[in-house]
Amino acid sequence: MTANCLHDRLDALARDGTLESADRWRSRAEALDWLDSLSPVLSWDGAGGVADRAQALRARLERADATLGRRLRAAIRAGHGPALFRRWQQESPGPIEGEHYDALDELLAGVLRLTDPGAASRPLEPEMVFYQPTPARHALDMLARSRLGPRDVLVDLGSGLGHVPMLASICTGARAVGVEWQPSHVQVARRAARALGLHDVEFRAQDARDADLSGGTVFFLYTPFVGSVLRTVLDALRDEGTQRPIKVCTFGPCTRLVADETWLCTDEPVRADRVAVFQAAGPRKD
Ligand SMILES: C[S@@+](CC[C@H](N)C(=O)[O-])C[C@H]1O[C@@H](n2cnc3c(N)ncnc32)[C@H](O)[C@@H]1O
Repeated sequence: MTANCLHDRLDALARDGTLESADRWRSRAEALDWLDSLSPVLSWDGAGGVADRAQALRARLERADATLGRRLRAAIRAGHGPALFRRWQQESPGPIEGEHYDALDELLAGVLRLTDPGAASRPLEPEMVFYQPTPARHALDMLARSRLGPRDVLVDLGSGLGHVPMLASICTGARAVGVEWQPSHVQVARRAARALGLHDVEFRAQDARDADLSGGTVFFLYTPFVGSVLRTVLDALRDEGTQRPIKVCTFGPCTRLVADETWLCTDEPVRADRVAVFQAAGPRKD
């Protein structure tokens, strides 16, 4: 970018008096990304005045985001989560495919305020997959397409820092359970849920192979494990799914394997870069 372009864009952003408003969070995220991309230019000794302007703009945008985060947390504590869910879905800017993160993840980071769990307290065993959060737009897509509602119980198998169960509870009023191998992750998730006043979310520090699945109606797996661990958990889910109707939602590489389970079916095309929603038929009729 030339010096002129840089000045022009800084001028335009500085003049934009609506940039602080609540509904401009995507534009702020875009502007903050742009400021991040300028770091190498701004750390140059001669950048002086431009660096100061960029710094002031960043502080202004971050203040607006912090204010919005506080307002959304208060709205969630007051039980207005489902209305926020509808708004986030309507404001969704287009295709959701892909594993990248976007402005919605940044917005929700300011809402859920998940802290760093520090070094892993319990080493993962072979076939267990390390923590990586589901991009928020996919989590919301899963909640909508599984039609999760207040009578449901969502179980996230390998729940990491817990944002999927928390979003399920906030957005739909469903009960939600997170089962996670790492006790340190579970501690972070419990603290965050408590701070948001989410009483219907529970986090269990447990191996998913030992989890009691009997209360769940919708199960979510963002490829938390592979191989024999996945096989054991799918067998346990099949035992549930042949007794009663359940849904199994998946994201990432495990989708391909879950799609081969003959006790599950789906009406939609199955793709690895979007959540798949499978149904189990329930008790056999013969
Ligand atoms: C890819 S992350 C998914 C996190 C979360 N479900 C989400 O979508 O944001 C996988 C998580 O599964 C956990 N995990 C791996 N093996 C597990 C097991 N056997 N039982 C419970 N959790 C496990 C990991 O510690 C990690 O946090």
